Amino acid sequence: MMAPMRRAILAANWKMNMTLAVGRAFVEELLARPLPAGVEVVLCPPHTLLHSLGKQLKGTSLKLGAQNMYFEESGAFTGEISPLMLQDAGVDYVILGHSERRALFQEDDGLVGKKVAAAMARGLGPIFCVGETLKEREGGETLAVVERQLSGGLAAVPREQAGELVIAYEPVWAIGSGRAATGEDAREVAAFIRRFYRDQFGREAEAGLRVQYGGSVKGANIREFTGYPEIDGALVGGASLKAGSWYEILQAVGQQVSAP
Ligand code: 13P
Repeated sequence: MMAPMRRAILAANWKMNMTLAVGRAFVEELLARPLPAGVEVVLCPPHTLLHSLGKQLKGTSLKLGAQNMYFEESGAFTGEISPLMLQDAGVDYVILGHSERRALFQEDDGLVGKKVAAAMARGLGPIFCVGETLKEREGGETLAVVERQLSGGLAAVPREQAGELVIAYEPVWAIGSGRAATGEDAREVAAFIRRFYRDQFGREAEAGLRVQYGGSVKGANIREFTGYPEIDGALVGGASLKAGSWYEILQAVGQQVSAP
């Protein structure tokens, strides 16, 4: 196994957790420790924390991400938040097409595709999520499902804007279940995603693509994934909610990328 060549990226998806005080204390605790070089670290809090954390993270190596957005810049879209507003809050990345958005809020590939293109047009980095359900995996449909999600999600991305994208492979059955995919299963899908991207946008764009694995990642198993050259990091839910368990993941990957 080779160390990844692109810059590793670890993103914390706090989902609908944390109040402002708890989030700010988390950041303080994290910043009191030496952060690993060679690893990009992104915190994705709920929207209400974005502005405040944006200020707190300014001048640090930590990046800020949002968990969702709408594709329009402004207008009569009650309850939604726009790319412009995220940028205003100091956001660098935005998670799009998460399986919870797809399953609980009926987001389809077409909508996700509009969001991905709108984020890229604004200079926000999408963390675009794909992944199959257990039924789909057991039915041997994993790659077909991921292909459909990639086609829809990337359909509106102009060739000249491709590259610098993060795609998270998150098998739905591995999310919050304590049952992570095997490194080899994740590698197979990550390689498929890379091939798809190369075919669609060319070799140069693929060089800027980073693929994450997500689903029951913790300090004890992260290197099973990031040890493969096709996998550049992880999108983490549960284990990112405490500064201690999140830091274990950062350290594990930090040691891996700095190993000769
Ligand atoms: P868990 O790490 O809790 O399995 O969640 C993964 C996830 O959905 C990250 O987006």
